Amino acid sequence: MIRSRYLCCVLCSAPGLTLALLLLLGAPPTVSAQDPRGPVSFINDVAPILKENCFACHDAKKRKGKLDMTTFETLKKGGTKDEPWTAGKPEESVLIDVLTTRGSSRMPPREAGERLSKEKVAIISRWIKEGAKLDAGITPRADLMRELRVRWKPPAPPTAYKYPANVNALAFTPDSKKLVVGGYHELTVWDPNAGKLEKRIYTRAERAYGMVFLPDGKLVVAGGRPGQEGDVRVYDLNGSGKDVGGVQILDGVNDRKVLVAALLDTDDSVHAVALSADGKKLAAGGCDRTVRVWDISGGAAKAKLEHSIENHADWIFGVAFAPDGKHLLTASRDKTAKIWDLAAKESVATFPDHQNGVYGVALTADGKIGISVGEDGNVRFWEATDRNKKIGKSIRSASHGKPVFKVALHGDPKMPLLATCSADATVRLWNPLTGAAVKTLSGHSDWLYAVAISPDGKQVAAGGRDGEVRVWTVPDGKLVKSFNASPGYVARTAAK
Ligand code: HEC
Repeated sequence: MIRSRYLCCVLCSAPGLTLALLLLLGAPPTVSAQDPRGPVSFINDVAPILKENCFACHDAKKRKGKLDMTTFETLKKGGTKDEPWTAGKPEESVLIDVLTTRGSSRMPPREAGERLSKEKVAIISRWIKEGAKLDAGITPRADLMRELRVRWKPPAPPTAYKYPANVNALAFTPDSKKLVVGGYHELTVWDPNAGKLEKRIYTRAERAYGMVFLPDGKLVVAGGRPGQEGDVRVYDLNGSGKDVGGVQILDGVNDRKVLVAALLDTDDSVHAVALSADGKKLAAGGCDRTVRVWDISGGAAKAKLEHSIENHADWIFGVAFAPDGKHLLTASRDKTAKIWDLAAKESVATFPDHQNGVYGVALTADGKIGISVGEDGNVRFWEATDRNKKIGKSIRSASHGKPVFKVALHGDPKMPLLATCSADATVRLWNPLTGAAVKTLSGHSDWLYAVAISPDGKQVAAGGRDGEVRVWTVPDGKLVKSFNASPGYVARTAAK
């Protein structure tokens, strides 16, 4: 462009030439190269685009075209072709070429999705033009997923919810008097008998998937932001907060008196946590298919990672300790439940009967009967010890008819109780020792993702997709209270 205009000037008029030369030479190049928006940052502007659109095929495992984009170093090295860019020259860079070409080498590949928007290509292009530099403070070998994660700041939950948040996890406090519910970037604490909101604890995690109280009263929460990050964090719900209209607001993101320990930060959601019978071991599992076990005998703040076993072929949805604390049960989307010998780091039994994703697992207090639930709609009871070498053999099964998402067990031998919740919008109570159905609790009108039994064994609570939580007394199944656990949410009444 400049060249053709210059030519035009030469041909047409001398004053024009002078003006053009003045414009071209007079302005210092640093100023003309500067963009009023400031320089493009690799980590803040470019990497998020690559993560969103490219990492799925160009991560360290898949390396399509032998290109791994998950560190700056491997990205810069490129794949089978040359370096993906020539610094300063986007028009000569493979990276821009694959994003803009009309040919078959287009990225992402045609069958995998739309081409990137012009704005996104312009950002990457400008970054190359500005020298394709890595931001100061990041080493070329740093894991970009991790670098992106640490830079991400969680939003505050809405003061009043416009839409109900899914309830993916519930837990009664150890005194059975309050109910903790997972919300959107927060945990909410309710008086279950009055349906009254008492506390909100803001969390980094968008969703809580699993909760368990420790012997010292602290709450362990497994959760995450789907496809982005996952964590296991420990909260002191009695930490101090500020009073807003009679509700205590606690900062579980930054206040280290509320967030007392962060045991795990990972690339995708953590779905389940469990505590051993003696309260000394904690286990968690999730999308990274790895079961981790911590020794927390010195308190959660001094937790020591003891085992890290990558075991299942797919996401883990459930974990439960055997009474000896040495064996662990897991449930996975890989269609199996397994029993693990932690010291040997190997599975000693596989329960395959669900033939579809397994979403939850429990074990009776005597360690004899494994119970698992899943996509097949069944609650399955099976041998969990090798009596007569029958480990993993089915004892009994019963059906909800629709997927069963969670199982809660009250282990007290004097009043053993099992509760399951399902896409059929019911909670069912069972005798875990015999597998006999005790009661069906209905009234919900949407999928139920979470169920909990109070430690005193007197109440059951459940919630799910529409945010509604119901609390019943057991075993009679009388409704105590029903409320929507999304603070400030007002259900729109259906227009008639
Ligand atoms: C659905 C999977 C998939 C996605 C998503 C994807 N790619 Fe690719 N990419 C491939 C495959 C497969 C190849 C190898 C193609 C070949 O060699 O013909 C490749 C090759 C490349 C190459 C050439 C590597 C080399 O040197 O041979 C570049 C550059 C590239 N991709 C960039 C991108 C960018 C940038 C994105 C995101 C905007 C992206 N890809 C998203 C599958 C994918």
